[in-house]
Amino acid sequence: MQEFVIAPSLLSANWARLGEEAEAVLKAGADWIHLDVMDNHYVPNLTLGPNMCRALREYGIQAPIDVHLMVKPVDNLINSFAKAGASLITFHPEASEHIDRSLQLIRDLGCRAGLALNPATPLSVLPYVLEKIDLILLMSVNPGFGGQAFIPSVLKKITEARRLIDQSGQPIRLEVDGGINLQNGGTVAKAGADTFVIGSAIYTTKDYPKTIQQFKDCFRL
Ligand code: DX5
Ligand code: ZN
Repeated sequence: MQEFVIAPSLLSANWARLGEEAEAVLKAGADWIHLDVMDNHYVPNLTLGPNMCRALREYGIQAPIDVHLMVKPVDNLINSFAKAGASLITFHPEASEHIDRSLQLIRDLGCRAGLALNPATPLSVLPYVLEKIDLILLMSVNPGFGGQAFIPSVLKKITEARRLIDQSGQPIRLEVDGGINLQNGGTVAKAGADTFVIGSAIYTTKDYPKTIQQFKDCFRL
């Protein structure tokens, strides 16, 4: 498995130019594009739908599109995002009546499947679905907005999730999402994360190649 993955979140990009913004960070060395899908029901914010994913593919984005569903219910949007070109689809267990069935649906549609756990959501669901997931997304902020502060108590949880993955022997990526910056990135990597969602700490800077290289240096340390 690739050592580290940097997945810029478009939530903090210039929304009048999302195609160019996605292309720019990929050209600057990012690996995936993270799409934060919010429905103003599961989280108190509203962002984008499957048409945005389709538009990015039609624009020419070929890199993996990592769709983070902060919506309830999930199954209908799993279908439409898979058809719109998503590569990975992640949802919050609290948002599905049947977690196992929703995970199976993602894989049946040809996408990689993930579960997103909020800061206060325990890891206890994971042992029952480890063979059905390709990604664990640990929220290090409460979902809904970019630019929030990293919640340090999640570090312990990252290490516990890393232990669970290593013991399982499954090729599961451990993604952390929210408040990651150049000051805490190394600590998050040391705790066991290998996939990093970064929104404001990239998109509020002018020089994407320089910022992304700085993140690569700090994750590698
Ligand atoms: C919050 C989103 C995060 C967020 C990350 O609900 O899931 O992906 O956009 O943005 P930053 O890096 O600005 O915290
Ligand atoms: Zn996200």
